[in-house]
Amino acid sequence: MHIYRASIVHFPSTTREPSKEHCYYEDGGLLVEGTKILALDTYSVIKDSYPQARVHDYRGKLIIPGLIDSHVHFPQTEMIAGYGEQLMAWLENYTFPTEMKFAEPAYCNQIADVFLNQLLKNGTTTALAYATVHAHSVDALFSTAQSKNMALITGKTCMDFAAECPENLRDTADLAVKESEMLINRWHNNGRCKYAITPRFVPTSTGAQLGALGELASQYKDVFIQTHLSENKTEIEIVAARFPERASYLDVYDHYGLVRERAVFGHCIHLPESSWQTLSEKGASIAFCPSSNLFLGSGLFDLASANQYDIPTVLASDVGAGTSFNMLRTYGEAYKVCQLQQNPVDALSGLYMMTQGAAAAHGMEHEIGNLNPGTYADFVVLNPCYDELSALRNENAKQVSDVLFALSILGDDRAVEQTYVAGQEMLTPNT
Ligand code: GUN
Ligand code: ZN
Repeated sequence: MHIYRASIVHFPSTTREPSKEHCYYEDGGLLVEGTKILALDTYSVIKDSYPQARVHDYRGKLIIPGLIDSHVHFPQTEMIAGYGEQLMAWLENYTFPTEMKFAEPAYCNQIADVFLNQLLKNGTTTALAYATVHAHSVDALFSTAQSKNMALITGKTCMDFAAECPENLRDTADLAVKESEMLINRWHNNGRCKYAITPRFVPTSTGAQLGALGELASQYKDVFIQTHLSENKTEIEIVAARFPERASYLDVYDHYGLVRERAVFGHCIHLPESSWQTLSEKGASIAFCPSSNLFLGSGLFDLASANQYDIPTVLASDVGAGTSFNMLRTYGEAYKVCQLQQNPVDALSGLYMMTQGAAAAHGMEHEIGNLNPGTYADFVVLNPCYDELSALRNENAKQVSDVLFALSILGDDRAVEQTYVAGQEMLTPNT
């Protein structure tokens, strides 16, 4: 048994008011046995109850739950920070040429390792990730995650509409279903892995493919669905021109049975009123990707409306369009996006959207997202004073929300002292 002694903050249950309903111990003790959390309390209570446990002294540090990145593209790791395009040109000029390299299985393994190391370095222990159209890219990411015992969700990106994607990144409606189902059977609930049916977005799929994937989703109700929705105005015009009979972009997905619980829609920037309503009624969630939306010039996500419609909204890096793997920094960008709309979002709400709020949106709060007894020991040790400036800023910070906010704006992986996955230290000095 191990006791981790530090300041500790988490959200033990779901809440609409994260700034009020968080649980904080100035001098806390997190008790871990094997892969799971056994108890959380003040250090003195834990130490008195388990005097034989080994103590890891992280006083002066802050323990938070392992972070969840709810929308990220693993093959795009190497193309982060590509200059000067908006969505459709960026896909054509940067994304598709990069994703073609994943036809080579050895390359998938190589990048899967780099990608997961980047997540862990930044305190992210779970991701809802896109792979490429190649089924072996999914195998590569799942098997690398499994070797680290990470809770990972991914799926084969399906695309079959010839005019919008190059031939060697295309599948068909039949092949998309056949390969996705094979991967579901191989990986869904295999250890900590879970599968996501992944049509890239409406422009790259035929109606036949979307319908076939909707049918598959109805057969596997606890499998995730992930896709993109209403990120960019040109994208929306393409969808409207191809599906004039549908009331909106979301209505295309809905028509084909792809809007339901455990469906996560990335972006959702330019939504008509009816789409907020549908997302809310169907229990779907939204991945808010602020650094990506600023980078591609896509627009400002309206978090106030998402909250008003009670749609679970989770934070996400969306690397390669996103500009950092760091989820605290991603919240820092969300703060700025919301500031531009006179709706500042506080740091504890930000932390919630990458921990308990995300876990609850994904129906996984019994295993990740909080530090409750019985969940996996996925947690992060933050050092709020990792350099001269952060020390100057944080040494006198009185409140945990202030420390988290400063780390989110200064946003740096140097603040991540250690990341634990299922009770194991994941960072070595040269990670
Ligand atoms: N829409 C369709 N594919 C993508 C992608 O890879 N990144 C982003 N940001 N938007 C998309
Ligand atoms: Zn994306």
